[in-house]
Amino acid sequence: MTQGRLQDKVIVVAGGGSGIGAATALRLATEGARVVVGDLRAEAAEAVAGRIVSAGGTAVATGFDIAEDDSVAGLVALAVSTWGGLDGIHINAADLQVILRDSDILDEPLEVLDRTLQVNLRGHVLCVRHAVPELLRRGGGAIVHTSSGAAHAGDPERPAYAMSKAAIHALARHVASRWGKQGIRANVICPGLVLTDAIRQGMNETLRKYALAGCRTPRLGEPEDIAAMVAMLLSPDAEWISGQIISVDGGATMRP
Ligand SMILES: NC(=O)c1ccc[n+]([C@@H]2O[C@H](COP(=O)([O-])OP(=O)(O)OC[C@H]3O[C@@H](n4cnc5c(N)ncnc54)[C@H](O)[C@@H]3O)[C@@H](O)[C@H]2O)c1
Repeated sequence: MTQGRLQDKVIVVAGGGSGIGAATALRLATEGARVVVGDLRAEAAEAVAGRIVSAGGTAVATGFDIAEDDSVAGLVALAVSTWGGLDGIHINAADLQVILRDSDILDEPLEVLDRTLQVNLRGHVLCVRHAVPELLRRGGGAIVHTSSGAAHAGDPERPAYAMSKAAIHALARHVASRWGKQGIRANVICPGLVLTDAIRQGMNETLRKYALAGCRTPRLGEPEDIAAMVAMLLSPDAEWISGQIISVDGGATMRP
Protein backbone atom coordinates (compact mmCIF):
# COMPACT_ATOMS: atom_id res chain seq x y z
CA MET A 1 0.00 0.00 0.00
CA THR A 2 1.20 3.53 -0.77
CA GLN A 3 1.72 6.32 1.78
CA GLY A 4 -1.58 7.78 2.83
CA ARG A 5 -3.11 10.53 4.94
CA LEU A 6 -3.15 8.21 7.95
CA GLN A 7 0.27 6.66 7.47
CA ASP A 8 1.22 4.64 10.59
CA LYS A 9 -1.54 6.23 12.69
CA VAL A 10 -2.95 3.82 15.26
CA ILE A 11 -6.73 3.83 15.03
CA VAL A 12 -9.37 1.77 16.82
CA VAL A 13 -12.67 0.97 15.14
CA ALA A 14 -15.12 0.10 17.92
CA GLY A 15 -17.81 -1.92 16.18
CA GLY A 16 -15.87 -2.80 13.04
CA GLY A 17 -17.16 -6.30 12.37
CA SER A 18 -19.59 -5.46 9.58
CA GLY A 19 -21.37 -2.70 7.69
CA ILE A 20 -20.10 0.85 8.17
CA GLY A 21 -17.43 -0.12 10.71
CA ALA A 22 -15.95 -2.83 8.48
CA ALA A 23 -15.87 -0.49 5.46
CA THR A 24 -14.19 2.12 7.65
CA ALA A 25 -11.53 -0.28 8.95
CA LEU A 26 -10.71 -1.25 5.36
CA ARG A 27 -10.60 2.39 4.22
CA LEU A 28 -8.38 3.50 7.11
CA ALA A 29 -5.94 0.71 6.29
CA THR A 30 -5.76 1.74 2.62
CA GLU A 31 -4.77 5.20 3.87
CA GLY A 32 -1.89 3.69 5.84
CA ALA A 33 -3.38 3.36 9.33
CA ARG A 34 -2.63 0.51 11.70
CA VAL A 35 -6.12 -0.58 12.63
CA VAL A 36 -7.51 -2.29 15.72
CA VAL A 37 -10.83 -3.84 14.75
CA GLY A 38 -13.04 -4.46 17.77
CA ASP A 39 -16.49 -6.01 17.76
CA LEU A 40 -18.87 -7.95 19.97
CA ARG A 41 -18.58 -10.68 17.31
CA ALA A 42 -14.90 -11.54 17.58
CA GLU A 43 -14.98 -13.73 14.46
CA ALA A 44 -16.39 -10.87 12.39
CA ALA A 45 -13.65 -8.55 13.64
CA GLU A 46 -11.03 -11.23 12.81
CA ALA A 47 -12.42 -11.56 9.30
CA VAL A 48 -12.15 -7.80 8.67
CA ALA A 49 -8.60 -7.68 10.03
CA GLY A 50 -7.78 -10.70 7.87
CA ARG A 51 -9.02 -8.91 4.74
CA ILE A 52 -6.85 -5.89 5.60
CA VAL A 53 -3.73 -7.98 6.15
CA SER A 54 -4.37 -10.00 2.95
CA ALA A 55 -4.51 -6.71 1.03
CA GLY A 56 -1.12 -5.69 2.46
CA GLY A 57 -2.38 -3.51 5.30
CA THR A 58 -1.84 -3.64 9.06
CA ALA A 59 -4.55 -4.70 11.49
CA VAL A 60 -5.31 -6.72 14.59
CA ALA A 61 -8.70 -7.77 15.87
CA THR A 62 -10.37 -8.47 19.16
CA GLY A 63 -13.75 -9.29 20.54
CA PHE A 64 -15.03 -6.67 22.97
CA ASP A 65 -18.30 -5.47 24.47
CA ILE A 66 -18.84 -1.70 24.39
CA ALA A 67 -21.27 -2.07 27.30
CA GLU A 68 -18.50 -3.30 29.65
CA ASP A 69 -15.90 -0.89 31.01
CA ASP A 70 -13.14 -3.51 31.39
CA SER A 71 -13.76 -4.73 27.87
CA VAL A 72 -13.46 -1.23 26.40
CA ALA A 73 -10.29 -0.72 28.43
CA GLY A 74 -8.94 -3.91 26.86
CA LEU A 75 -9.71 -2.68 23.35
CA VAL A 76 -7.76 0.55 23.82
CA ALA A 77 -4.98 -1.30 25.67
CA LEU A 78 -4.57 -3.60 22.67
CA ALA A 79 -3.75 -0.61 20.47
CA VAL A 80 -1.21 0.65 23.00
CA SER A 81 0.41 -2.72 23.65
CA THR A 82 0.60 -3.56 19.93
CA TRP A 83 1.75 -0.24 18.47
CA GLY A 84 2.70 1.97 21.42
CA GLY A 85 -0.19 4.43 21.51
CA LEU A 86 -3.43 5.67 20.03
CA ASP A 87 -4.04 8.39 17.43
CA GLY A 88 -7.75 8.04 16.74
CA ILE A 89 -10.92 6.11 17.35
CA HIS A 90 -14.09 5.54 15.35
CA ILE A 91 -16.84 4.77 17.86
CA ASN A 92 -19.43 3.05 15.73
CA ALA A 93 -21.17 0.27 17.66
CA ALA A 94 -24.90 0.38 18.32
CA ASP A 95 -27.37 -2.27 19.45
CA LEU A 96 -29.41 -2.84 16.31
CA GLN A 97 -31.36 -5.77 17.83
CA VAL A 98 -33.03 -3.96 20.70
CA ILE A 99 -34.14 -1.29 18.22
CA LEU A 100 -36.71 -3.80 16.95
CA ARG A 101 -38.58 -3.34 20.27
CA ASP A 102 -38.08 0.45 20.42
CA SER A 103 -41.73 1.25 19.69
CA ASP A 104 -42.88 4.47 21.36
CA ILE A 105 -42.13 6.05 24.69
CA LEU A 106 -45.39 4.91 26.33
CA ASP A 107 -45.39 1.41 24.96
CA GLU A 108 -41.81 0.19 25.15
CA PRO A 109 -40.43 -1.66 28.16
CA LEU A 110 -37.93 0.41 30.15
CA GLU A 111 -35.39 -2.33 29.59
CA VAL A 112 -35.39 -1.36 25.90
CA LEU A 113 -34.55 2.22 26.84
CA ASP A 114 -31.89 1.06 29.30
CA ARG A 115 -30.20 -1.31 26.88
CA THR A 116 -30.25 1.23 24.07
CA LEU A 117 -28.63 3.89 26.23
CA GLN A 118 -26.18 1.37 27.69
CA VAL A 119 -24.74 0.46 24.31
CA ASN A 120 -25.36 3.44 22.03
CA LEU A 121 -24.58 6.20 24.54
CA ARG A 122 -22.83 4.84 27.64
CA GLY A 123 -20.69 2.62 25.40
CA HIS A 124 -19.54 5.70 23.49
CA VAL A 125 -18.82 7.39 26.82
CA LEU A 126 -16.67 4.43 27.93
CA CYS A 127 -14.72 4.55 24.67
CA VAL A 128 -14.09 8.27 25.12
CA ARG A 129 -12.99 7.79 28.75
CA HIS A 130 -10.40 5.19 27.75
CA ALA A 131 -9.31 6.82 24.50
CA VAL A 132 -8.81 10.44 25.62
CA PRO A 133 -5.92 9.79 28.06
CA GLU A 134 -4.10 7.82 25.35
CA LEU A 135 -4.72 10.52 22.74
CA LEU A 136 -3.40 13.14 25.18
CA ARG A 137 -0.25 11.05 25.68
CA ARG A 138 0.33 11.36 21.89
CA GLY A 139 -0.19 15.13 22.00
CA GLY A 140 -3.70 14.90 20.54
CA GLY A 141 -5.82 12.86 18.19
CA ALA A 142 -9.27 12.48 16.74
CA ILE A 143 -12.55 10.89 17.74
CA VAL A 144 -15.37 10.17 15.31
CA HIS A 145 -18.76 8.88 16.46
CA THR A 146 -21.39 7.28 14.26
CA SER A 147 -24.76 8.78 15.09
CA SER A 148 -27.79 8.77 12.78
CA GLY A 149 -30.12 11.11 10.93
CA ALA A 150 -32.67 9.72 13.40
CA ALA A 151 -31.10 11.96 16.06
CA HIS A 152 -32.74 15.03 14.54
CA ALA A 153 -35.39 13.66 12.17
CA GLY A 154 -38.38 13.28 14.49
CA ASP A 155 -40.05 9.89 14.23
CA PRO A 156 -43.16 8.36 15.82
CA GLU A 157 -41.09 5.22 16.48
CA ARG A 158 -37.66 4.37 17.92
CA PRO A 159 -37.39 7.19 20.49
CA ALA A 160 -34.70 5.43 22.54
CA TYR A 161 -32.48 5.06 19.48
CA ALA A 162 -32.98 8.71 18.51
CA MET A 163 -32.30 9.92 22.06
CA SER A 164 -29.18 7.78 22.38
CA LYS A 165 -27.82 9.20 19.14
CA ALA A 166 -28.71 12.83 19.93
CA ALA A 167 -26.90 12.54 23.26
CA ILE A 168 -23.70 11.54 21.45
CA HIS A 169 -23.73 14.97 19.82
CA ALA A 170 -23.55 16.62 23.24
CA LEU A 171 -20.76 14.23 24.24
CA ALA A 172 -18.67 15.14 21.19
CA ARG A 173 -19.20 18.86 21.74
CA HIS A 174 -18.09 18.44 25.34
CA VAL A 175 -14.94 16.55 24.40
CA ALA A 176 -14.12 19.02 21.62
CA SER A 177 -14.50 21.90 24.08
CA ARG A 178 -12.73 20.31 27.06
CA TRP A 179 -9.63 18.97 25.29
CA GLY A 180 -9.57 20.94 22.02
CA LYS A 181 -6.64 23.11 23.06
CA GLN A 182 -4.70 19.92 23.84
CA GLY A 183 -5.13 18.72 20.29
CA ILE A 184 -8.18 16.49 20.58
CA ARG A 185 -10.92 16.81 17.98
CA ALA A 186 -14.30 15.12 18.27
CA ASN A 187 -16.87 14.96 15.48
CA VAL A 188 -20.05 13.07 14.70
CA ILE A 189 -21.36 11.61 11.46
CA CYS A 190 -25.11 11.24 10.94
CA PRO A 191 -25.60 8.69 8.16
CA GLY A 192 -28.81 8.47 6.21
CA LEU A 193 -30.00 5.06 5.06
CA VAL A 194 -26.85 3.11 4.17
CA LEU A 195 -27.02 -0.11 2.18
CA THR A 196 -25.12 -2.49 4.40
CA ASP A 197 -25.56 -6.19 3.62
CA ALA A 198 -28.11 -6.46 6.45
CA ILE A 199 -30.17 -3.53 5.21
CA ARG A 200 -29.96 -4.66 1.60
CA GLN A 201 -31.36 -8.05 2.60
CA GLY A 202 -34.33 -6.51 4.42
CA MET A 203 -35.12 -4.00 1.67
CA ASN A 204 -37.93 -4.38 -0.85
CA GLU A 205 -38.45 -2.30 -3.97
CA THR A 206 -41.07 -0.03 -2.37
CA LEU A 207 -38.76 0.87 0.48
CA ARG A 208 -35.83 1.39 -1.88
CA LYS A 209 -37.85 3.81 -4.03
CA TYR A 210 -39.10 5.66 -0.94
CA ALA A 211 -35.58 6.03 0.43
CA LEU A 212 -34.21 7.14 -2.92
CA ALA A 213 -36.95 9.75 -3.31
CA GLY A 214 -35.77 11.26 -0.01
CA CYS A 215 -32.20 11.75 -1.31
CA ARG A 216 -30.98 14.60 -3.51
CA THR A 217 -28.57 12.19 -5.19
CA PRO A 218 -29.12 9.63 -7.95
CA ARG A 219 -28.28 6.72 -5.62
CA LEU A 220 -28.60 5.48 -2.07
CA GLY A 221 -25.72 5.40 0.41
CA GLU A 222 -23.04 2.72 0.70
CA PRO A 223 -20.90 1.94 3.77
CA GLU A 224 -17.91 3.32 1.86
CA ASP A 225 -19.58 6.77 1.77
CA ILE A 226 -19.46 6.92 5.56
CA ALA A 227 -15.99 5.35 5.68
CA ALA A 228 -14.66 8.13 3.43
CA MET A 229 -15.94 10.79 5.84
CA VAL A 230 -14.53 8.98 8.87
CA ALA A 231 -11.13 8.77 7.16
CA MET A 232 -11.21 12.47 6.36
CA LEU A 233 -12.21 13.46 9.89
CA LEU A 234 -9.43 11.31 11.38
CA SER A 235 -6.86 12.77 8.99
CA PRO A 236 -4.84 16.02 9.02
CA ASP A 237 -7.24 17.33 6.35
CA ALA A 238 -9.72 17.83 9.21
CA GLU A 239 -7.29 19.59 11.55
CA TRP A 240 -9.64 22.59 11.82
CA ILE A 241 -12.90 20.62 12.10
CA SER A 242 -14.11 19.86 15.60
CA GLY A 243 -17.36 19.60 17.53
CA GLN A 244 -19.33 19.16 14.29
CA ILE A 245 -22.36 17.04 13.51
CA ILE A 246 -22.01 16.11 9.84
CA SER A 247 -24.79 14.52 7.79
CA VAL A 248 -23.68 12.04 5.15
CA ASP A 249 -27.03 11.17 3.66
CA GLY A 250 -27.24 12.11 0.00
CA GLY A 251 -28.70 15.47 0.98
CA ALA A 252 -31.76 13.83 2.55
CA THR A 253 -31.57 16.35 5.39
CA MET A 254 -30.49 19.94 4.89
CA ARG A 255 -29.65 21.52 8.22
CA PRO A 256 -27.88 24.82 8.94
N1 LIG B 1 -26.91 1.38 8.04
C1 LIG B 1 -27.63 2.48 8.18
O1 LIG B 1 -28.53 2.79 7.38
C2 LIG B 1 -27.37 3.42 9.35
C3 LIG B 1 -28.02 4.65 9.35
C4 LIG B 1 -27.77 5.53 10.39
C5 LIG B 1 -26.88 5.19 11.40
N2 LIG B 1 -26.29 3.97 11.40
C6 LIG B 1 -25.36 3.68 12.49
O2 LIG B 1 -24.17 3.17 11.93
C7 LIG B 1 -23.51 2.32 12.87
C8 LIG B 1 -23.14 1.01 12.19
O3 LIG B 1 -24.34 0.38 11.79
P1 LIG B 1 -24.41 -0.64 10.55
O4 LIG B 1 -25.64 -0.30 9.80
O5 LIG B 1 -23.10 -0.69 9.86
O6 LIG B 1 -24.76 -2.00 11.30
P2 LIG B 1 -23.86 -3.25 11.76
O7 LIG B 1 -24.73 -4.12 12.58
O8 LIG B 1 -23.20 -3.84 10.57
O9 LIG B 1 -22.74 -2.56 12.66
C9 LIG B 1 -22.83 -2.44 14.05
C10 LIG B 1 -21.65 -3.19 14.64
O10 LIG B 1 -21.62 -2.97 16.06
C11 LIG B 1 -21.38 -4.22 16.68
N3 LIG B 1 -21.90 -4.21 18.05
C12 LIG B 1 -23.20 -4.27 18.45
N4 LIG B 1 -23.28 -4.29 19.78
C13 LIG B 1 -22.00 -4.24 20.25
C14 LIG B 1 -21.43 -4.25 21.55
N5 LIG B 1 -22.18 -4.34 22.64
N6 LIG B 1 -20.08 -4.18 21.66
C15 LIG B 1 -19.30 -4.12 20.56
N7 LIG B 1 -19.79 -4.13 19.30
C16 LIG B 1 -21.12 -4.19 19.15
C17 LIG B 1 -22.09 -5.22 15.81
O11 LIG B 1 -21.64 -6.55 16.04
C18 LIG B 1 -21.79 -4.69 14.41
O12 LIG B 1 -20.60 -5.21 13.88
C19 LIG B 1 -24.46 2.18 14.05
O13 LIG B 1 -24.07 3.09 15.06
C20 LIG B 1 -25.81 2.61 13.47
O14 LIG B 1 -26.67 3.13 14.45
C21 LIG B 1 -26.50 3.07 10.38
